[in-house]
Amino acid sequence: MQLRSNRVFLQSMARDFRRTGAIAPSSKMLAQAMTSELASCNKPQVSVLEVGAGTGSVTAEIVRHLGAGDQLDVCEIDRKLASIIRHRLRNDSAFTAADASIRVINKPIESFERRPAYDFIISCLPFTNFQPAAVRGVFELYRGMLRPGGICSFYEYILVRKATRLVTGKTAVGERVAGVSEVVREYVGKYCYRHQVVLLNLPPAMVHHIRFPEA
Ligand SMILES: C[S@@+](CC[C@H](N)C(=O)[O-])C[C@H]1O[C@@H](n2cnc3c(N)ncnc32)[C@H](O)[C@@H]1O
Repeated sequence: MQLRSNRVFLQSMARDFRRTGAIAPSSKMLAQAMTSELASCNKPQVSVLEVGAGTGSVTAEIVRHLGAGDQLDVCEIDRKLASIIRHRLRNDSAFTAADASIRVINKPIESFERRPAYDFIISCLPFTNFQPAAVRGVFELYRGMLRPGGICSFYEYILVRKATRLVTGKTAVGERVAGVSEVVREYVGKYCYRHQVVLLNLPPAMVHHIRFPEA
């Protein structure tokens, strides 16, 4: 199962690196950091959205923290990756034991309705490969999709944007990546209340947990 998942992940990376945005699935340590807020929540009937699930390395960790009455929506834009997750839901012991109700939604996050349906959004999107306006659009979508007090956890790879900007300089790519950094810095600066550094990941990552103020 793991070998097949890794092969599909690598194929997806080769097909469209901009969309996949990673050279390997997240490590167990990164998955644990991404789910640490969910893990410490003792509210009944939580509703969770995972965005950009890949082959399910973070999904498996989310599922460990869910029980009967909880709901997980797994959003993945890539058809093959979404079907890997559906397969794992039926056949992988990490998923088959789950009591929560789980749906895999093979659509881009941008097509989701902006209404407050989730207590947690666990976002694995490769923002570095997006346009700055698209990153802002996704953060604003998350703001609208979170219930009051809801939490969004997301990660960025440490130094990857800086390295890309050093290499690309004042090219269109360099300008785009600088724009993404600015947007991410703005949202982290305003709304992040906790960061976690995860060195045991390829590449090392920084997890941010953000909470939007109630309107
Ligand atoms: C960096 S990978 C993360 C995969 C997995 N969660 C992990 O941590 O190993 C990003 C994932 O986001 C998906 N993705 C990219 N753009 C997306 C979008 N607009 N909506 C939903 N998923 C998207 C990609 O197909 C890819 O599987």
